[in-house]
Amino acid sequence: MSEFAIEADHLTKQYGTFTAVDDVNLRVPAGGIFGLLGPNGAGKTTIIKLLTGLADLTAGNARVAGFDVRRSPMEVKARIGWVAAEVILDDDLSAWENLWLQAKLQRLTDWQERASELLRYFSLEDRRRDKVGTFSTGMRKKLEIALALLHGPRVIFMDEPTIGLDPTTRRMLWDLITGVNREYGITIFLTSHYLEEAEALCRRIAILDRGRIVAEGSPAELKSRIRSEYIELETSEEIEPSRFSALAGVQEVRRQGEGWLLKVERADEVLPRVLGAVTAGRIRRLHVEGPSLESVFLELTGRRLGPDSNEPHDYRKFYANIRRARG
Ligand SMILES: Nc1ncnc2c1ncn2[C@@H]1O[C@H](COP(=O)(O)OP(=O)(O)OP(=O)(O)O)[C@@H](O)[C@H]1O
Ligand SMILES: [Mg+2]
Repeated sequence: MSEFAIEADHLTKQYGTFTAVDDVNLRVPAGGIFGLLGPNGAGKTTIIKLLTGLADLTAGNARVAGFDVRRSPMEVKARIGWVAAEVILDDDLSAWENLWLQAKLQRLTDWQERASELLRYFSLEDRRRDKVGTFSTGMRKKLEIALALLHGPRVIFMDEPTIGLDPTTRRMLWDLITGVNREYGITIFLTSHYLEEAEALCRRIAILDRGRIVAEGSPAELKSRIRSEYIELETSEEIEPSRFSALAGVQEVRRQGEGWLLKVERADEVLPRVLGAVTAGRIRRLHVEGPSLESVFLELTGRRLGPDSNEPHDYRKFYANIRRARG
């Protein structure tokens, strides 16, 4: 495999006249964890479908795990795994039977040893005969990942792997995802609504908005593009705004309740000057808001990224995914 596990050029998907994925170029380095971030409807799942061969490209090209998705779809499928956003396990079957079913669907022979190893790796060994219906959410997620790993893929696609999970289970899953990446050397391509998740897991991130990539880089690079930071302070003396606006590096001075909000280029550089402009002992409160991925997203799209909690769960999508997963 080349230096890149995924290379996509001018990836485009149209549904009728609607362009869900619009001329996307991606380079995902082999062996890393790559995050595709974007709000509802940005086109994240569609990109996964295009890269995994579940949907046809309208235009563009993609190579995944070294093979062209148009010309060699079966070669690609043999080398990738997919963890859907929705649960695909069969509750009435045991963990082992779910693995057996997965092996059948993928026509695997000699899968038992690897299945046992995966159950051991995910600490599910002593539950292998239990029906999955009795599993906790975290155990289900582990088993879903085990299913995706059964045929020994080089690249795994995880569509919003932690959506709807409680914070503890989410963190457990983060450890698991980094563990799988390290232990098995598998490239992981994940989508997420959660900036802190991308920051915790991903070496590289692309931000998708309305089918287009609007930014790409490491979390630190993306944050360094944000030109402004904020210093909030409250003083126990009267201050003329000009005292702050005259300071080098201060871009904007705003009154905020009892205090001040200073938009600055770099808080660490400006802070000593701000402190020097106030009489010693007269600062009541001080807060520095550094650049965050959320502010990157806000600056680029004018909107927040967080998941829309008002959105009802899409059951059609849920059942469509189950049907697809069951072939
Ligand atoms: N089969 C389809 N037919 C028509 N439009 C579709 C189809 N699949 C997706 N779309 C549209 O394409 C756009 C992108 O959808 P997609 O599911 O890729 O978004 P997403 O980023 O995964 O969103 P979410 O965060 O809600 O999962 C949406 O506007 C969606 O309605
Ligand atoms: Mg989606």
